[in-house]
Amino acid sequence: MKQKGLLYTGKAKSVYRTDAKGQLIVEFRDDITAFDGGKKDQLKNKGSYNAEASAFIFQYLEKNGVKTHFLEMLGPRRMLVRELSMIPLEVIVRNIAAGSMVRNYPFKEGTKFKPPVIVIDYKDDSRHDPMLNDDLIVALKLATPKELAAIKKTALKINALLVKLLAAQGITLVDFKIEFGRAGKTIYLGDEISMDSMRLWDMKTKESLDKDVYRFDKGDVMATYNRVVKRITKTESPKRAPSETGRKSKEVPATATALKASVKRPVKKSPVRKR
Ligand code: C5P
Repeated sequence: MKQKGLLYTGKAKSVYRTDAKGQLIVEFRDDITAFDGGKKDQLKNKGSYNAEASAFIFQYLEKNGVKTHFLEMLGPRRMLVRELSMIPLEVIVRNIAAGSMVRNYPFKEGTKFKPPVIVIDYKDDSRHDPMLNDDLIVALKLATPKELAAIKKTALKINALLVKLLAAQGITLVDFKIEFGRAGKTIYLGDEISMDSMRLWDMKTKESLDKDVYRFDKGDVMATYNRVVKRITKTESPKRAPSETGRKSKEVPATATALKASVKRPVKKSPVRKR
């Protein structure tokens, strides 16, 4: 597997071509940004913390029937992924009112959403990611009604799985953002799921365990990210959530190590390297 030229640079990740057809390398950089890039810094190890959290979560989701772009880790911050044609939607699932929900609507912070609320924004920095609705998504030809229904269903399934995974570590999943892309006719979960893209609260202390620590100068961001990665990946992971159809299905391995070991890796030459 050879890394080739740079394909795309985002605010915190770079994407490279490879010599393998349909496979790309995502490099998680140490850049951190907030407020549409208005605040930015470089924080040592940030890329590897987010890469490790994302890799663990993608593998957990795959084991539970969610199609993701994850293939394998090539090092602490380099992830081999399936090449996708990204759909420019930011799909945000909210379990609890916080952040822009509280800024833009008359919700009190901490209000529980049951069922969870899905908000979909148009991914376009120059327009400040405006919120869309189903009609706009279809009119803009970003997704067909059928695809949109599938995306929402998958987003809720991912939410249920993540709530369970994190609750087992004493962490409340307040909200998170995901992105999807197409490979042929199949829609896969792409991008990342990390402390940058989830809002996490400690169940006991209610302290922020995510990018809000950086956004609002709440403390040592990297110490927080490091602790969260350890909590997510090093301890027991919960058993598979019951499927929506009620059918019994294979359980995810009980421990993080077993989860990593059990994932089928298409490229055998480069095993997951530990930081
Ligand atoms: O700011 P807001 O409350 O709308 O963010 C909701 C969730 O989506 C948060 O977890 C935030 O970190 C994430 N998000 C993101 N990327 C964006 C916007 C929001 O990861 N561009």
